[in-house]
Amino acid sequence: MPYRPLPHAAKPMKENTKLIHTGRNPSANGACVNVPVHRASTILYPDVQTYLARFDGERRFNEVLYGATGTQNSRALASAVNELEGGAGTVVTASGLSACTLAIAAVVKAGDHILITDSVYGPTRRFCTEVLARFGVEAEFYDPAAGNNIAALCRANTSLIFLEAPGSLTFEMQDIAAITNVARDRNILVAMDNTWATPIFYKPLQHGVDISIQAGTKYVAGHSDLVIGLITAADSQRFQQIADYAMTIGDVAGPDDCFMALRGLRTMSLRLRAQYDAALRVAGWLAQQPQVKKVLFPPLPDDPGHALWQAQFSGGASLFGLCLEDSSLAAAERMINQLEHFKIGSSWGGYESLAAVNLLPLTRDVVPWTDGEVLLRLHIGLEDSDDLIEDLSAGLARI
Ligand SMILES: Cc1ncc(COP(=O)(O)O)c(C=O)c1O
Repeated sequence: MPYRPLPHAAKPMKENTKLIHTGRNPSANGACVNVPVHRASTILYPDVQTYLARFDGERRFNEVLYGATGTQNSRALASAVNELEGGAGTVVTASGLSACTLAIAAVVKAGDHILITDSVYGPTRRFCTEVLARFGVEAEFYDPAAGNNIAALCRANTSLIFLEAPGSLTFEMQDIAAITNVARDRNILVAMDNTWATPIFYKPLQHGVDISIQAGTKYVAGHSDLVIGLITAADSQRFQQIADYAMTIGDVAGPDDCFMALRGLRTMSLRLRAQYDAALRVAGWLAQQPQVKKVLFPPLPDDPGHALWQAQFSGGASLFGLCLEDSSLAAAERMINQLEHFKIGSSWGGYESLAAVNLLPLTRDVVPWTDGEVLLRLHIGLEDSDDLIEDLSAGLARI
């Protein structure tokens, strides 16, 4: 049964219009606005020949053939995300972390050397050092400020550069254009975890990145109620390589989560823009408070990554780091334990504000982060920013 989303409109559409129309086709779905949830493990076939030919050719990438290789809901979500990313194909995975690890594992082989940003999301780092190492792939971490200098780290067997910008917890920006130029000259693939900016504010595939990854758990889902991963490839061979690998290892997202993620995607642009505006206001205010040493948020003019952010991204997330003058755990506890609107938790991108505390030192190979006892991270939700500032103001006063 081929899955057919709405045919592309003849007229070009603005992105917000596209986000409303992509990945659904009411006339093929009982006139429902949204693709209904198709719960399926078994798919039935009319005869033996059709059954035996079910995975032939490109069928396995776009038809619904077996529950664990994708349902109408994962196909619909993939088609919408692919349109937003401007890719050749999107693979939906069980979590944001599995999107990162699967994208890497699908394209490397024993004997390869890969370069990973030192500020990569911690569990992705762990996969590289603990799992890839066992399979004969050497992962080397690079300074996120490397830019062109990454050329000096490239070897004859370097097959992949994995970047994430801004970095997890420390929010360093990267010169993505410089890195992709170095990679292109040497036939090295580039993958990017773009969960922070999302394709609303930065489209990696338009800037020389081969594989764009999002933890759909965050802003795509947007309501803190599911985990899902999204991998989009710039060319169709790469997409098929990754999709085949996902099928081989059995990484799949359930239809309910795909349905919810696609529902979230419809309003992502609105939510993200509102949350980003509020984050700019809250982060700017925090940067002026005497108890605050620095705010790690590239959209702020004083951030060391501001120029790179401004040159490459058209907006940002509502997630930033916070270093207090008193960086003891006790001070963080006095500030955070009694916050009213900021709850304590780590998975971000939902509609609610969050505070997270990270104990130092962070795991870093190249750029140590050892200053003090803790590093804080705030996520700004859709509450009124006046209330959030009042809450934080009382928190800072408690220090
Ligand atoms: C930058 C980044 N990438 C990937 C992930 C993993 O996403 P998930 O929680 O869906 O596994 C996270 C989760 O916090 C993240 O912050």
